[in-house]
Amino acid sequence: MFAVETTATAAYIVAALLFILALAGLSKHETSKVGNTFGIAGMTIALVATVVLALGRDIEPLGLGLLLGAMAVGAAIGLWRARIVEMTGMPELIALLHSFVGLAAVLVGWNGYLHVEAHPDGEEAVLLDAAGMLGIHSAEVFIGVFIGAVTFTGSIVANLKLSARMKSSPLMLPGKNAINIGALLVFFALTVWFVIDPHLWLLAAVTVLALLLGWHLVASIGGGDMPVVVSMLNSYSGWAAAASGFLLGNDLLIITGALVGSSGAYLSYIMCKAMNRSFISVIAGGFGIEAGPAEDKDYGEHREITAEAVAELLDSADSVIITPGYGMAVAQAQYGVAELTRKLRERGVNVRFGIHPVAGRLPGHMNVLLAEAKVPYDIVLEMDEINDDFAETSVVLVIGANDTVNPAAADDPGSPIAGMPVLTVWNAENVIVFKRSMASGYAGVQNPLFFRENTQMLFGDAKDRVDAINAALPVREKSERASSGSR
Ligand code: TAP
Repeated sequence: MFAVETTATAAYIVAALLFILALAGLSKHETSKVGNTFGIAGMTIALVATVVLALGRDIEPLGLGLLLGAMAVGAAIGLWRARIVEMTGMPELIALLHSFVGLAAVLVGWNGYLHVEAHPDGEEAVLLDAAGMLGIHSAEVFIGVFIGAVTFTGSIVANLKLSARMKSSPLMLPGKNAINIGALLVFFALTVWFVIDPHLWLLAAVTVLALLLGWHLVASIGGGDMPVVVSMLNSYSGWAAAASGFLLGNDLLIITGALVGSSGAYLSYIMCKAMNRSFISVIAGGFGIEAGPAEDKDYGEHREITAEAVAELLDSADSVIITPGYGMAVAQAQYGVAELTRKLRERGVNVRFGIHPVAGRLPGHMNVLLAEAKVPYDIVLEMDEINDDFAETSVVLVIGANDTVNPAAADDPGSPIAGMPVLTVWNAENVIVFKRSMASGYAGVQNPLFFRENTQMLFGDAKDRVDAINAALPVREKSERASSGSR
């Protein structure tokens, strides 16, 4: 038995190191595949060690059957979902997975209570009491259930918002800040009470309170801030797992939970800085953000253009910047865009891409699609690297992007996305917006760019429109252009 325990501890240390290497690998495009492999290896070792440990502790056949059955069902569902999920559906899948971690933490907490505090004269409670650890156990149960339940409902709301089954605009209950602060104060008071006198009704009360708080926190956050919410829930799920690790006495769960919790918190912080959002405001459910006036502004008429006319415009352009967004991913237009880029570069046009940090639906979404279509890395630039160049650009192609190119973020302090840095495409000579209608983007905010004098709308599916431009663009070599003296 001793040998089994020691081997399992060694295996957990190896798994923990592999998880750290996985995080390091995932921080760069070039090493991300290796990072993933480290993660898979670490998780495999952790699972095998856990089963071996259970066998070493003389688990009953029924328990072993349940353990292996749960692993088989979980693995089958995981494989199935991973195979069918679209790239655009990743954030909602991740949000759903976070909800499972939250639910697991709630169940582990309740299980801890039913084994120990519910039987004050039982062996475990007596042993913990004698060691002066019963209060700590009760605190672990209570805090673990609280974090887990907030993560559970918060992640479900995030999933519903990301999959458009719930409105993406923020829920604005009167006194919402007071509700959040009040709920936290009640939680602290109940924790003290539970540690002194662990009653079942207190655990039930904190579970309900945390479920409602998780729901309210995420429902109060508007569409544009959802990327931060997803990474914040990632962090919460890590802390929930760490809390379960303390209860189960499982060091690997504590280490893994802390890794996920701290890296998720740091990612949320970086994203808040990139989007000029207050970190505290976002983690506190839109704390301090008040509802703006309803939007009924008349921006005037928009102008339309045909694919053939865009081809002509591009034919006479010196420099072109393409700013892709979620619509390019939906339409799978990246291959046509890569083809258009190649054709224009062959003509000597300076073509570059401007990538907003939250374009699409997950960090790096556009970079992955463009790399898949073999667009050279060196012409794909971050927002900060390209924002000053729009003023000297002949044509900007906004392909399925909307919130990330909305001038209201810069000009209108009353806009729900006010202060968010955006690609300043409107400074270019000509702006062509590819989309299917005048509908708003993810944040549900109207975009005044569509009504500017230098903007023209190219309606239709982005892939069809890009293909039509490719077809209309005459084949012409760089040398031919130079000799025609067109520029
Ligand atoms: P969005 O603001 O979401 O706008 C995408 C536009 O694409 C829509 O206006 C839509 O207009 C158009 N579109 C959809 N399908 C299309 C198709 N087949 N062909 C042509 N156009 C199509 O896009 P964005 O500028 O990339 O901004 C991203 C938004 O998502 C931000 O608000 C961001 O906060 C949020 N978000 C980002 C992330 C991350 S981490 N990237 C995660 C969650 C949420 P039509 O319907 O009229 O075609």
